[in-house]
Amino acid sequence: MAARPVVEVRGLWKSFGDKEALRGVDLKLHDGETLVVLGPSGCGKSVLLKHVIGLMEPDRGSIIVEGRDLSGLSQAELNEIRQKFGMVFQGAALFDSMTVGDNVALPLREHRGMKGERLSALVEEKLELVGLKGISSLRPAELSGGMKKRVALARAIALDPDIILYDEPTTGLDPVMAEQINELIRSTQRKLNASSIVVTHDLHSACFTGDMVALMDEGRIAFYGTTDELTTTENEAVRNFIARGHPAATGAPGGSGAGPACADDPFA
Ligand SMILES: Nc1ncnc2c1ncn2[C@@H]1O[C@H](COP(=O)(O)OP(=O)(O)OP(=O)(O)O)[C@@H](O)[C@H]1O
Ligand SMILES: [Mg+2]
Repeated sequence: MAARPVVEVRGLWKSFGDKEALRGVDLKLHDGETLVVLGPSGCGKSVLLKHVIGLMEPDRGSIIVEGRDLSGLSQAELNEIRQKFGMVFQGAALFDSMTVGDNVALPLREHRGMKGERLSALVEEKLELVGLKGISSLRPAELSGGMKKRVALARAIALDPDIILYDEPTTGLDPVMAEQINELIRSTQRKLNASSIVVTHDLHSACFTGDMVALMDEGRIAFYGTTDELTTTENEAVRNFIARGHPAATGAPGGSGAGPACADDPFA
């Protein structure tokens, strides 16, 4: 792993009115690594990602991307940094009025000024990477939940990002579909050699996709370690998170979630 992190979050605080969403988050993403951010609903995961990509401004603290502090950058500089990122938003966030192909083409048109045959070929290539060849003329309404997440990933990798951010990539999918997305995250990582942050509350997804894991609890990082350490730690927040029995934590609807953290870890 490289010495300098690709993304560094330092002492990040953010409130909305009386609600303190982030209360001093420190976190590092290293080159080529997949960092999973786990945590219960409402603990601040999405807000954290939005700061990393510069969509929200900190009340206090800083975000440093490839050595550059985002605060104090001009809008043009921020736009340039944002192109290093691909983001798969929670719920896919596709444009329903556009075809699948136009959704994937959007960043290429906007940021690279691409059009015509070259654009269509590249869109098809990106769709093929996520296992969806030949569907570019369909509309999002014609796709399953898992297919929508794949299209969102194809759009996120359109500009060959250095860093990919995934917000709840498996939420709302059945276990088979969720597993396909987990595998896609891993294979995309290998093919693009990107660094990734995967936000999830799904423990199995965390173990399958992650190198490092951070557990967020009430706006703070309560645990940071490897997926192996997640299994063995006595950290109270981790034990509580597992014991609380998020159905998704076992990969099975209604599961107890109360086993060893990474019992179904493919590397165990
Ligand atoms: N734009 C906003 N305006 C006001 N409050 C917000 C805003 N965005 C987030 N919050 C609040 O900040 C807290 C953290 O929200 P966040 O969306 O980061 O949670 P999360 O961990 O992503 O949850 P989930 O797992 O349900 O997606 C919540 O209390 C939420 O209501
Ligand atoms: Mg969220």
